[in-house]
Amino acid sequence: MIENIVIYPDKKLREISQEVVEFGSGLKETLDNMYDTMMDKGGVGLAGIQIGKTQRILIVNIPREDKIQYKEDLLEVINPEILESSGEILFQEGCLSIPNFYEYVRRASYIKLRFQNKEGKSEIIEARDYLAVALQHEIDHLNGILFIDKLSILKKKKFEKEYRKNFKAS
Ligand code: CO
Repeated sequence: MIENIVIYPDKKLREISQEVVEFGSGLKETLDNMYDTMMDKGGVGLAGIQIGKTQRILIVNIPREDKIQYKEDLLEVINPEILESSGEILFQEGCLSIPNFYEYVRRASYIKLRFQNKEGKSEIIEARDYLAVALQHEIDHLNGILFIDKLSILKKKKFEKEYRKNFKAS
């Protein structure tokens, strides 16, 4: 089911999401709804909070070189914890909660991530580049952090100017 996306500057986006302790049918339904919503809006990642669920859950589905998002590449991540990070990458980001604004953000180019899958089983993965960026962006959402928080003062001003303009236009 496609859900409504919580849009900036809604204060909901600033809430800290809670650890998931129940791995039941409710969690699977939420993950399915998040997938439907993300695909409907053309996103590559989505955190629970973006559909109003304050749970430490996120999904990421990075397109391959042919630009197609294969569902077999879908990562469903519960209670993530970054174990290691290194390197640096400058990558242009966007966010379904901040429509029509894209800007470059600096993040680690490599992360080692521990999380639980939707059955509650613990997994460890290594991620680089685009996938590492997307995972860090979504993990930030679980802590109430948005990518615009990471911009320089100058770029933040540019955002506020552009966003106000778009906000008025719509
Ligand atoms: Co986002």
